[in-house]
Amino acid sequence: MCHSPLHSFLVALPKCEHHMHLEGALSPLLLFEIASRNKISLPTPSEDASFASTASLLERYARFASLDDFLHYYFIGMTSLIHARDFEDLAWDYFLRAKEHGVLHAEVFFDPQAHTSRGIEFKTVVSGFEKACKRAENELGISTLLIPCLLRHLPVQDGESAYHEALGDLRNGRLAGLGLSSSEKGYPPGLFKDIYKEAKEANIRRTAHAGEEGPVEYIREAIRVCDIQRIDHGFRLAEDEELMKEVAEKQMLVTLCPLSNLKLQCVSDVGQLPVRKFLDAGVQFSINCDDPAYFTSYIQDNYCAVQEAFDLSINEWSRIAKAAVRGSWCHEQRKQFLLDKVQTVVAAHGK
Ligand code: ADE
Ligand code: ZN
Repeated sequence: MCHSPLHSFLVALPKCEHHMHLEGALSPLLLFEIASRNKISLPTPSEDASFASTASLLERYARFASLDDFLHYYFIGMTSLIHARDFEDLAWDYFLRAKEHGVLHAEVFFDPQAHTSRGIEFKTVVSGFEKACKRAENELGISTLLIPCLLRHLPVQDGESAYHEALGDLRNGRLAGLGLSSSEKGYPPGLFKDIYKEAKEANIRRTAHAGEEGPVEYIREAIRVCDIQRIDHGFRLAEDEELMKEVAEKQMLVTLCPLSNLKLQCVSDVGQLPVRKFLDAGVQFSINCDDPAYFTSYIQDNYCAVQEAFDLSINEWSRIAKAAVRGSWCHEQRKQFLLDKVQTVVAAHGK
């Protein structure tokens, strides 16, 4: 909740989410519940006292020192997920929250390698998530797309196997595109260029995390070498005027995650993010929640944080909301429906 006079407008604004990791929606409550029913042992108090209770875990989540510090907990949390029903419960929990936060369209990431490396079959993961997606469409009116991410801290060969395992579903549209995530520094996107080349040749959509903790050079490399069509985080783009111009001209979507960047110490204040610079330069961007259960902030909280920091106008929010629709990977008919919904809310609050 923000103190802006536009708060009720921001709540009403239909939202598209393009940067949310389903495994990052695993709340401590759900983590303990699923771990208990699957008899998964979590770190003992002598190993890590944070796992003593939901309260102590949340207290630990409130002071992440870096992306890698967060990823340590993120990868432990997901070891609780074993059966298709676990993946379904996790995604459904997120979609219920997304509905409360005004999301009408959600393109959600997941990390196949983090599960297959534990002996969970790829098809178990996808079928569980897919069930929740179908329910979200039917019961909540949220359109959904699933995007598998390769884990950049693992060997490229692992990524190649994961890509090939997903390829059938990427081709038949069950999966919407390819992403790249996890530890950034020391893992430039160009390491994965051959996979991205193959994906491009197979006409598969491509995105990658770049310019979160890593330098702006990683964004340039992701665009020039991997030929990505969308940039996840990408806030360091503002450090290179020419590249920023190029991204604006190409109308590439940048998926900003303001409160994630704050919680992972990438910025010390949301006001440091290039929201005003992107608006002035015509860079298309959306505002997203990244790992909501770990940062205890969902999409509306991110909209409010941006408003508190930048005091944007209705017209500027209208541009952001419409860019989010246009940059989505859903079909044109759904985009038109979403654009009409945005316009209705803008018209009702405008003048
Ligand atoms: N995986 C989940 N959240 C992530 C983030 N913020 N950056 C990189 N990889 C991630
Ligand atoms: Zn992310």
